[in-house]
Amino acid sequence: MSLRLATAGESHGPALVAIVTGLPAGLELDRDAIDADLRRRQEGYGRSPRQQIEQDRVEVLAGLRHGRTLGTPLALVVRNVDHKNWTWGMSPWPPEGEPQGKGTKAVTLPRPGHADLAGVLKYELDDVRNALERASARHTAVHVAAGAVAKALLGTIEIAVEGRAVDEEALRARIDAARAQRDTVGGVVEVRARGVPPGLGSYAAKEDRLDARLAAAVMGIQAVKGVEIGDGFALAGAFGSEAHDEIRTDRRRDTNRAGGIEAGVSNGEEIVVRAAMKPLPTLMKPLASVDLQSGEAAQALVERSDVAAVEALAVVAEAAVAWELARAAREKFGGDAVGDFVAAWRGYVERIAWR
Ligand SMILES: Cc1cc2nc3c(=O)[nH]c(=O)nc-3n(C[C@H](O)[C@H](O)[C@H](O)COP(=O)(O)O)c2cc1C
Repeated sequence: MSLRLATAGESHGPALVAIVTGLPAGLELDRDAIDADLRRRQEGYGRSPRQQIEQDRVEVLAGLRHGRTLGTPLALVVRNVDHKNWTWGMSPWPPEGEPQGKGTKAVTLPRPGHADLAGVLKYELDDVRNALERASARHTAVHVAAGAVAKALLGTIEIAVEGRAVDEEALRARIDAARAQRDTVGGVVEVRARGVPPGLGSYAAKEDRLDARLAAAVMGIQAVKGVEIGDGFALAGAFGSEAHDEIRTDRRRDTNRAGGIEAGVSNGEEIVVRAAMKPLPTLMKPLASVDLQSGEAAQALVERSDVAAVEALAVVAEAAVAWELARAAREKFGGDAVGDFVAAWRGYVERIAWR
């Protein structure tokens, strides 16, 4: 049984869309819980006024009846309220009438650190907007909605996933300093998953390894430039005797330097994933670039932008980890109905006498 996610949507287009397949039937979803995660993604310290325009809410178009999944594809939509200012500029069809609103002029000033230059070269574009609209992290909203669905599924087998920004006070001080200098900053987030039984993922093939899958899921988020599991990079400098988690007679550990994964398989301890986010590339004091139209030296595009999105990343990374764990749990426990899924999990944890 495999859980799949496909998404579509541009930053200022009409809506963001996700289709989730592979969910069991009978899973209870809570609209308020999904919307609460969407709100958390929007609320982080350092975010731009765009977040006051968008009031993200999930709509479900298919796959759900009276709050329970049907075991059929689940279609989720998050509308872009800001699209009303871009109806001409982001019209899916050739726009009618005089240009009006935003996005009417081609963007030709690529930002270092963003998708702009690579995108126009790769896709033969003459307007940077055609690259940045999808590269933008706006569509992480719909990934967060899918992550909330994944968390609902994980909840049925007593797994809880939580993301947070690391060193929040210091982070907020750095954000204030960056704002005062019209600059941007990055930071570190951490996601912890409790209640994961031993045995998710596999060492059988590298693409099955849970650590590799979690790293890809988190590295797949915009602006993430490093991922570590457990003590990660610090382990490189430790002696082996200090680096590994000794096994007690009850098969649990007193330490968790491995971050809950050994040989690509969950080992029953808390899963700990950390991600490093680079400073956001849209700068109010722009860096040197080139005007793609004239070929002359120019300053990069300045567009409304966050000073930092680290707290938002914590929510997005939480969703990514939840998604990947739900996918691994579906592979292991299967089931067309949620009761089958839970029964398979219960039988397994009884067999290994885990807890
Ligand atoms: C939640 C979130 C919000 C973001 N907001 C912005 C933003 O307002 N301005 C910006 O320049 N980059 C923002 N980014 C980062 C860019 O989307 C990202 O740097 C860009 O797509 C290039 O991809 P890369 O950094 O992975 O190379 C955000 C990223 C995330 C995860």
